[in-house]
Amino acid sequence: MVIAPPRSELDLNDAASIRKTMLAVRPRWVVHPGAYTAVDRAETEPESAHAVNAVAPGILGEEAKRIGAAVIAFSTDYVFDGSGTAPWNETDPTGPLNVYGKTKLDGERALAATGAAHLIFRTSWVYSANGKSFLGTIAKLAREKEKLSIINDQHGAPTSALDLAAMTTYLLRWLEDGGNGQSAEDLVGNNSGIYHAAGSGEATWFDFAKRIVADGKARHPHQVFAEILPIPTVEYPTPAKRPLNSRLDCTKLRDVFGWEMPLWTKSVDEALASRSATAG
Ligand SMILES: NC(=O)c1ccc[n+]([C@@H]2O[C@H](COP(=O)([O-])OP(=O)(O)OC[C@H]3O[C@@H](n4cnc5c(N)ncnc54)[C@H](OP(=O)(O)O)[C@@H]3O)[C@@H](O)[C@H]2O)c1
Repeated sequence: MVIAPPRSELDLNDAASIRKTMLAVRPRWVVHPGAYTAVDRAETEPESAHAVNAVAPGILGEEAKRIGAAVIAFSTDYVFDGSGTAPWNETDPTGPLNVYGKTKLDGERALAATGAAHLIFRTSWVYSANGKSFLGTIAKLAREKEKLSIINDQHGAPTSALDLAAMTTYLLRWLEDGGNGQSAEDLVGNNSGIYHAAGSGEATWFDFAKRIVADGKARHPHQVFAEILPIPTVEYPTPAKRPLNSRLDCTKLRDVFGWEMPLWTKSVDEALASRSATAG
């Protein structure tokens, strides 16, 4: 059974509500994608970002530890400083450039420090077919504007929320298979730790946008779409600094659990097809 408490029952800003719900539900697994994700706003609201991203994972970990549960949490490529061109692995030094990244890193550390069994998945550039994300924003703006300037010097990989959900389901099955009544804590055992989980392959935001627009053109040959222009980050200043190198090396995920994230191009195409089907 999956229980997804609404914010009125579990407010990540409120330690007491986290503890109360954990005690009432006594989950076997805690899947924790909740976060303060307003990256630019976090620069002026560091306390809110800290409470949700840095403190809450530690509270979840403390309560999970008490009942032998395990926590599956999500973190970000923004824990890195974006230097170099090599994909980051899990043991590389961190160095967040913005408040959001710093609070997410503090959350990783707070969860690990509780001693609870945990799997932390650092991912990047998450989108879904529906809901608010880069994919939907570009698909819409490309029909409304003549030109769109898109950053072409931040490198990483778009990651489908659906792929992350599939990975999580796979892992739970993988861990539970043959578990013979062991606690989730025991099932995770020595595999506790950080894993990188981003779409396979590499892109810039410009590549991502181009693929979205190409799909629109193919589906609607008579419609006019915006011209996509590549720009460097310096031409699109934001309150929070973003890393230029967000490439994540996902080898550990494959080696430990046998899971490989699909190619970002394939997943983007699937999300666009699903949007199109929904739109009729
Ligand atoms: N989006 C990305 O590009 C990206 C990249 C790397 C890592 N991540 C990580 O992936 C995870 C999911 O990200 P996302 O983009 O899907 O985030 P999102 O769309 O902003 O969703 C975050 C969720 O957290 C919930 N939440 C926020 N504050 C809360 C509070 N005080 N109490 C209870 N719930 C609260 C939100 O609830 P409401 O719906 O009620 O607001 C929302 O459901 C996060 O851990 C994020 O740091 C995301």
